[in-house]
Amino acid sequence: ARLWLVVPAAGQGRRMGADRPKQYLPLGGRPVLARTLERLFAALPTSRLCLCLDPEDSYFDSSWVPFADWRRAPGGGERVDSVIAALAAIAPDAADDDLVLVHDVARPCVTVDDLVRLVAALAEDPVGGLLAAPVADTMKRDDGTGRVGATESREGLWHALTPQGFRFGLLRRALHEALSRGVRVTDEASAVEAVGQSPRLVAGRRDNLKITHPEDLALAELVLFAQQQ
Ligand code: C5P
Repeated sequence: ARLWLVVPAAGQGRRMGADRPKQYLPLGGRPVLARTLERLFAALPTSRLCLCLDPEDSYFDSSWVPFADWRRAPGGGERVDSVIAALAAIAPDAADDDLVLVHDVARPCVTVDDLVRLVAALAEDPVGGLLAAPVADTMKRDDGTGRVGATESREGLWHALTPQGFRFGLLRRALHEALSRGVRVTDEASAVEAVGQSPRLVAGRRDNLKITHPEDLALAELVLFAQQQ
């Protein structure tokens, strides 16, 4: 079975409040998108890439793509629509049992070691799974008025990170079914869960953060710097 990488990079990143989508902001002198692709390529250089880009995107530069075999897919309204478009773009060349890793462009700090361990953990897995990190903070649920309603147990709770990797056939079916049944899908695993399968949790580093808010850019820069020491 082949290995595919799908990188949704069609978001507008409005929560950043920047003048351009966050994947094009500089991170240690290189665009976030270029950093993310560098990490993926360092770990998995022979995989095939599908990059989801906004059809109106004017910032993308193909010289940032180190992969020999890559294609682009038109991003959709939501992340899940972008991933579905990517699966359609690879469908002519993908087999049902090919492994597809979906990785947010906004996670440039994923390490080579986590990527290699994830692929190894999923190699013989008929379903697939995701990088995840145990929740460290005490979890509170609000009561709707700005006060604590309850303290939730963090036992057995994980942060869902990316990449998330699933067999092509299963992932495509799960995403289409989730959409048609109106299930809210914020990651690939939730769609796979909704069709009754149990994704494998692969413990990953907590510094695989997603750049979402303005302060995250500085954190990501520190993480990249620290990882290179
Ligand atoms: O905005 P957020 O950080 O949740 O987006 C997660 C990922 O999904 C990002 O890599 C973003 O570029 C991507 N995305 C996309 N198409 C959309 C919305 C988000 O490819 N319509």
